Amino acid sequence: MKRLVVVSNRVAVPDGTTRAGGLAVALQEALQQNGGIWFGWSGKISAQTPSAPQILEEGPVTFATLDLSRRDHAEYYNGYANRTLWPIFHYRLGLADFNRENYTGYLRVNTLFAHQLFPLLREDDDIWVHDYHLIPMGEELRRLGVRQRMGFFLHTPFPAMEILLALPGHDRIARSLCAYDVVGFQTENDLRAFHDYITLEARGEVLSNGMVQAFGRTLKAEVFPIGIDVDIIVDAAENSDEIEDVQALKRRLRDCRLIIGVDRLDYSKGLAERFKAFGNLLEHYPQWRGKVSLMQIAPPSRSDVPEYLRIRRNLEALAGHINGRFAQVGWTPLHYLNSSFERNVLAGFYRNSQACLITPLRDGMNLVAKEYVASQNPDDPGVLVLSRFAGAARELHAALLVNPYDEAGVAEAINAALSMHHDERRERWSDMMRAVRNSSLDRWRESFLSALRQAPYSVEEG
Ligand code: UDP
Ligand code: G6P
Repeated sequence: MKRLVVVSNRVAVPDGTTRAGGLAVALQEALQQNGGIWFGWSGKISAQTPSAPQILEEGPVTFATLDLSRRDHAEYYNGYANRTLWPIFHYRLGLADFNRENYTGYLRVNTLFAHQLFPLLREDDDIWVHDYHLIPMGEELRRLGVRQRMGFFLHTPFPAMEILLALPGHDRIARSLCAYDVVGFQTENDLRAFHDYITLEARGEVLSNGMVQAFGRTLKAEVFPIGIDVDIIVDAAENSDEIEDVQALKRRLRDCRLIIGVDRLDYSKGLAERFKAFGNLLEHYPQWRGKVSLMQIAPPSRSDVPEYLRIRRNLEALAGHINGRFAQVGWTPLHYLNSSFERNVLAGFYRNSQACLITPLRDGMNLVAKEYVASQNPDDPGVLVLSRFAGAARELHAALLVNPYDEAGVAEAINAALSMHHDERRERWSDMMRAVRNSSLDRWRESFLSALRQAPYSVEEG
């Protein structure tokens, strides 16, 4: 059997320090199936760039990871990846920082990663690179003579052409994408934006069979919506009653209803807008005062990046404001927790909630939405309120779809969720559960790898 080599910046090294994030969760489960190599950043910073990756064998997976030097961490990870590409790919031009040093650092680390991976490769490997941190890595590997099939999957949105054009060096990013044999996106929207760039800006062509010709190469560009391992979550939710945190939550709730939100503390998640919408609910639907609480779990993320520090301060102020305005003796409207929880604990929280608020301003997919659906009790399911700008909204049509910028509209949807009749809840949940099962994690992995294995060799053209 061919060996799978997965490459991503974030690697779930089994040392108990993995941070929350959809990519690590999905790849961890995807690699457990048939094993392979997982290559990327160790999550650590060291004084110097290491000369070789650290290798750790754990079950069927070989982890090969590199520390980043302080400078590489600042310029590549905090800088270009998270202050330039992340905001642009999430349609936030106003938050993007353009800086040549960071761009050079980004290219330098991509070259470094390619050089360090190269000696580990075998001739019949399938190479699968993930996410915006490592777009140029495939091109660097090609330069080193790598002829194996290489795929790339973008976990974030791909921005509309007019947004991408504001990125200095956008053509290099697009050209690098075309060095792969298969490029995967989360939704049709993202693929359409890529096609627009290829045809209108790069003067390339989209062929009728889904192949793309641009920058002297031919590649497949397709939609592969990422999913979850449904049975793991169903099982975790069904067996969550014994978990201490779940019991504590139930004790605290008593007759109070629970709305839950779980997101990395990121400005793309629309947390400030969500808090305001909850405040709006309490203001305009006073029947819910004292009867419903919002528990927002938001583990800090990318804390060295100034924009993340700012959103954190802003949320603390908003939470304080809402609680100050509405709290009563024995009732706190908003519980805001900056800690992360294991997924089996989250599954228990989801199962004991009446509604879930997932209202990102833009999100590639949002796995929490799918995990929430999978965690529900089929006889008494909660309601999902979901932003139309999350990739998951393309599949979960039966959620209450909202525009996260419309504070009153979201408050109205929360009221509808809390008031929804049992039959409608069950009907909507069954529809969503079918969709979640339909685009499972196995299916995502298998369909991507099968597209990669069928891709024609076109290395010679590059
Ligand atoms: N997650 C977790 N613990 C937490 C918060 C989140 O394990 O405290 C997991 C969550 O269950 C999901 C992932 O992190 O699997 C987040 O993925 P998502 O696609 O929703 O968002 P991302 O963080 O990748 O933008
Ligand atoms: C998103 C990105 C991933 C990233 C994750 C967590 O899901 O698409 O590439 O791993 O957020 O962010 P972090 O910066 O901690 O890796």
